[in-house]
Amino acid sequence: MALSKFLSLIFLQLLCVLCVLKLSNGQGLDVNFYEKTCPSLEYIVKDATAKFISRTPSLAPPLLRMHFHDCFVRGCDGSVLLNSTSSNQAEKAAIPNQFLKGFQVIDAVKSAVEKKCPGVVSCADIVALVARDAVTLIKGPSWQVELGRRDGTVSIASEALNKLPSPFMNITQLKASFQSVGLSVKDLVVLSGGHTIGISHCIGVNPRLFNFTGKGDTDPSLDPKYLAQLKRQCKPGDVTTILQMDRSPKKFDIDYYTTVSQRRGLFQSDAALLDDTETKTYVQQHLSHAGSKSFFDDFGVSMVNMGRIGVLTGKNGEIRKQCAFVN
Ligand code: HEM
Ligand SMILES: *[C@@H]1O[C@H](CO)[C@@H](O)[C@H](O)[C@H]1NC(C)=O
Ligand SMILES: *[C@@H]1O[C@H](CO)[C@@H](O)[C@H](O)[C@H]1NC(C)=O
Ligand SMILES: *[C@@H]1O[C@H](CO)[C@@H](O)[C@H](O)[C@H]1NC(C)=O
Repeated sequence: MALSKFLSLIFLQLLCVLCVLKLSNGQGLDVNFYEKTCPSLEYIVKDATAKFISRTPSLAPPLLRMHFHDCFVRGCDGSVLLNSTSSNQAEKAAIPNQFLKGFQVIDAVKSAVEKKCPGVVSCADIVALVARDAVTLIKGPSWQVELGRRDGTVSIASEALNKLPSPFMNITQLKASFQSVGLSVKDLVVLSGGHTIGISHCIGVNPRLFNFTGKGDTDPSLDPKYLAQLKRQCKPGDVTTILQMDRSPKKFDIDYYTTVSQRRGLFQSDAALLDDTETKTYVQQHLSHAGSKSFFDDFGVSMVNMGRIGVLTGKNGEIRKQCAFVN
């Protein structure tokens, strides 16, 4: 019948519109992406990562940070791993990346994966898996990592400088930065919780201590006792001293939110989460929930969101043979 034929055509068209929508939302990533091509991938990665983390747990924070720095610049495409060449300053050479560490872990994991599944798994996916495994291995949250990213071939230092949020940003700038990569205000607060682990150098904080508005003043939003403590640790022009991000920098816990709410957030960008009703509400929510379960759950969800930023899939990009070099 003409009518039923017409209706079924409409139905097929609708189906197709839905399937296209689904593709653009999920971007083609899939937790089972390597099920057939590299079934033991997750085991290989976790095993190789654990060899480093068990010896040097302090590598976990920079490995988490590496995934963030990869995703915010050209999407999660492994561009942060590429080395500079004689004609190009790569992202690694940019100031916000100067303290990134753990590239040797990525390289070791990649070789272990290549032995078992040559030419199949992207460096961008390895960065995402290692970030998750590093966090889980130090008893932080776990989440399922979507896979199927492909590696980019371009890495430019100036893009890292422009795209990575700076510790001197206010809440308006932070929200804009996260929005520009498709992340929500909630993602901003939850992922800032990554600062529950690891360290910083004094230069990220010094303006708050010595010359906040250019008049030799201090940041009035800092708790005075914490300010005094930081001033004992950091000296003007200090580029070597290390500070802990919160009171328990080895433990993935909700202490970050406690310190922020007590005006003891280390960076202006941490303190800024109190300057907006929406972000402030999320900070307080993380505190008021008994234990860390809701923070852990939220963190996994936001990490998955971050892992979807600007990914290359399908026939785009390549599968790098060595993570520091394009093929
Ligand atoms: C919201 C904007 C953010 C800013 C402005 C920012 C800035 C910074 C800065 C300046 C440092 C110190 C680096 C050093 O001096 O060695 C740092 C460390 C760190 N960041 Fe962030 N960050 C932000 C978001 C994130 C996110 C989204 C994550 C991950 C989910 C993250 C994870 C970390 C970790 C784990 C460290 C410690 C690194 C280590 O121990 O070596 N940060 N961040
Ligand atoms: C690539 O860069 C890493 C880290 O910056 C460095 O350790 C390594 O030696 C470089 N590799 C080569 C072959 O230049
Ligand atoms: C944030 O910083 C920008 C750039 O310096 C400035 O224009 C804006 O007024 C600041 N916003 C707030 C809320 O402080
Ligand atoms: C503080 O900042 C002002 C303005 O940027 C600058 O002129 C001055 O030299 C700085 N003072 C110190 C002690 O760094």
